[in-house]
Amino acid sequence: MNNHLILFDNVQFIYELSLAQLELKSFGVEFEITDGLREFKLLKVNDGSELRKRLAYFKSVNGEFTDYFYIIQKNRTRSVNQYLTHWIYPYKGKFHPQMIRALLNIIGLKEGDTILDPFIGSGTTAIEAQLLGINCIGVDISPLCVLQSRVKTESVYVLAKIIEWKENIFKTIKTSLFNKDEKAIEDIINSIPEERVRNFYKMAKLVAISDNVRRKKEFYISFLKNLEMMIASVLDYFDLVNELNLKLGKVDIRLGDARKLPFEDESIDGIITSPPYSVALDYVSNDAHALRELGYNLSMLREKFIGVRGKGKERIDLYNEDMKKSLSEMFRVLKPSKYAVIIIGNATYMGQEVKTVEFVIEYAEKIGFRLIRNINKIIFGLYNVMQKENILIFQKIRR
Ligand SMILES: C[S@@+](CC[C@H](N)C(=O)[O-])C[C@H]1O[C@@H](n2cnc3c(N)ncnc32)[C@H](O)[C@@H]1O
Repeated sequence: MNNHLILFDNVQFIYELSLAQLELKSFGVEFEITDGLREFKLLKVNDGSELRKRLAYFKSVNGEFTDYFYIIQKNRTRSVNQYLTHWIYPYKGKFHPQMIRALLNIIGLKEGDTILDPFIGSGTTAIEAQLLGINCIGVDISPLCVLQSRVKTESVYVLAKIIEWKENIFKTIKTSLFNKDEKAIEDIINSIPEERVRNFYKMAKLVAISDNVRRKKEFYISFLKNLEMMIASVLDYFDLVNELNLKLGKVDIRLGDARKLPFEDESIDGIITSPPYSVALDYVSNDAHALRELGYNLSMLREKFIGVRGKGKERIDLYNEDMKKSLSEMFRVLKPSKYAVIIIGNATYMGQEVKTVEFVIEYAEKIGFRLIRNINKIIFGLYNVMQKENILIFQKIRR
């Protein structure tokens, strides 16, 4: 099986096939797609080691499995793309991680480079960059997003301490169940001295609260079950790092505003992000239970979120102004000639399609980006207001 690549069985959409080809091009390989469309032939001899380490859409290179093949085996859920810690917390509107891995390749990022996602959400970009040894800075206005992105990427470094605390936490839960003293759990979590361990248990509690609110599951049962699964997933992460001999990228997740980034001009090697899709999802209402539990005032938070302020037409105007500011910030912090990938779709609001994709392209080109690719990505059944999204790849051509 020399000079042969095989696509994963779950690659089924046109956009995935085109990203798979762009991945290969970014590594400078010449290839031919065979009749079955699942096998690619390399036209020049390639030992395959770099491709095997990095590719996202291929399960094998020259007859040997890729790293990504082994990565997706570490999955505690029924969903193929919720492997490792990706599944922790049911956040709506998560990126498809395989697509992010491919995009990191396509924009040519190498080990030690820095990617920025100014709307980090559930932390997908951070995990995928970390696995490839690429450093990631993630920013989000939501404290819940900051917490989950940190927990998903930092827990692997404090696994032993997390396991040490487990017995204590379990004991407290059993007594608190008996005494009906719910505050005891909060108290013990708050007493954990190491922040990363404390965050892990805070997150476990939020996952259980979310299960309770959204799926009517009993809090204590859900807490214990999720905690076991979270620990198993972090253990998987730890094992994977050793098995594949990965050098993890550094991750820096900050609470902040994409309209005013605290970074120097031209300091970032690449951007992959998906801003709120106009007014498609109300992130504040969606996660109200978790944000309240974290002690935040929802109406104050709402003022800083893009896409949820104002009513009627004013809401769209405010959204557009906010998008202009965040696009300008992305442009400012990106190094010249580097790439910004923006994944965005047109939502329907008050019965009309809001042309966010066109708006973003027009403004980005006005400030000095050039649209290099515009890939249609049709999505099914996520929420009924959206039919498709676009992967826009921009290059910074002016300074
Ligand atoms: C489409 S989601 C990102 C989802 C992410 N790609 C993922 O994989 O989970 C958009 C995010 O923008 C965040 N956001 C809204 N207003 C913001 C602002 N002013 N600054 C930074 N983030 C903001 C929301 O909290 C939400 O997490």
